[in-house]
Amino acid sequence: MTTTAVRATRALDVPAIRRDFPILETIINGHRLVYLDNAATSQKPRQMIDALVAYYTSQNANIHRAAHTLAATATERYEATRQKLARFIGAPSPEEIIFTRNTTEAVNLVASSWGLANVHAGDAIVMTQAEHHSNLVPWQRVAEATGATLTYLPIDDGGMLDLNAAHALIGPRTRVVAITHMSNVLGTIAPIAEIVRITREKAPGAIVVVDGAQSAPHLPIDVAALGCDFFAISAHKMLGPTGVGALWGRRDLLEAMPPFLSGGSMVGHVTFESTTWAPIPQRFEAGTPNIADVIAFGASIDYLDALGMDAVRHHEREITAYALATLRARHPALTFYATDDTNVRGGVVAFNVRNVHPHDVSELLDGRGIAIRAGQHCAHPLHTVLGAVATCRASFYIYNLNEEVDALSEGLAEVEKVFARAIARPQA
Ligand code: ALA
Repeated sequence: MTTTAVRATRALDVPAIRRDFPILETIINGHRLVYLDNAATSQKPRQMIDALVAYYTSQNANIHRAAHTLAATATERYEATRQKLARFIGAPSPEEIIFTRNTTEAVNLVASSWGLANVHAGDAIVMTQAEHHSNLVPWQRVAEATGATLTYLPIDDGGMLDLNAAHALIGPRTRVVAITHMSNVLGTIAPIAEIVRITREKAPGAIVVVDGAQSAPHLPIDVAALGCDFFAISAHKMLGPTGVGALWGRRDLLEAMPPFLSGGSMVGHVTFESTTWAPIPQRFEAGTPNIADVIAFGASIDYLDALGMDAVRHHEREITAYALATLRARHPALTFYATDDTNVRGGVVAFNVRNVHPHDVSELLDGRGIAIRAGQHCAHPLHTVLGAVATCRASFYIYNLNEEVDALSEGLAEVEKVFARAIARPQA
């Protein structure tokens, strides 16, 4: 696969990248789309769309079953994505990659399969205040089922994890440390390797589960270097189709875990009385998987690989710095919730306009073709900590331009005009 967007330098050729994303030409409410909702889902390059269409047009067959040519080709291509993803995130072996529907299902797999078998009454499950519900609710359910306790590591005023608290709160009874790599609201990056080091020292029997939904699309990832035990991702946030996620887990842990879902494809041998399990990864992929989307996801990984994740990260640091500087300078009525330091944050920017509900902000911006997200972003407890009923969230990716930040700023100027009287009042 080739992409027109590769250049010898480390800077992304954003105009060339934009030509690969047909949706960016769409007119919304009379304006060309300005898509700043990438933390919810990314847009899709034609290379991925073509791979999806090609699969259904000329390659469709079920995998891991029949001996005919089409089935062999589909199996090969499905497994090729597993290999690409393993390489992309630094996993020691493709067999340690389990395909799921999304990050949520990947975390549920660990919580249900490892958690229910290994967490006991009186154990502690440690999370952070910044967790998305997908890496929080499954652990609440494990605690409820087992009698374990829940502990939340606090974040500071800059939205960064408090490492002193991690030292104090991770202890011998800790069995699980479940942590988001990059906050889907604040964009802040957690020091995973440091958390792993603390966990190994203070709680040798605990696992570290990383929600990589927001980091894998935007940062170079090396799970071996992070040292964690599980890492969960969603394809749709990294140029891939919806309906595909993946869990990476350490081989020894996965091999010792009971299945999550059961049925066809995940068995060794079945009698009327009992069943033996297939080896990993098949043990965790019951039933016909999402073959088409996994294959198409392979094209998305190729695309990101061709750009280079260092270059992706560099671009996002630049546009995020530009956005924060521009919005802070032009819009004094805005409140931000995280540090501006792009060494420790990505391109997710939460903000509020004084005394204006985020839904009103989002609606006015939509009138100009600008897509942001407004609400609680599946992070209700975090919003309680922030003291915000809801937030506006702009999030950037490889195809965003500084001029789109300017469009956002012009849209916010309109918001300020429409809501001038409310904004003039003291903070409600
Ligand atoms: N997890 C996605 C978000 O943060 C849906 O918007």
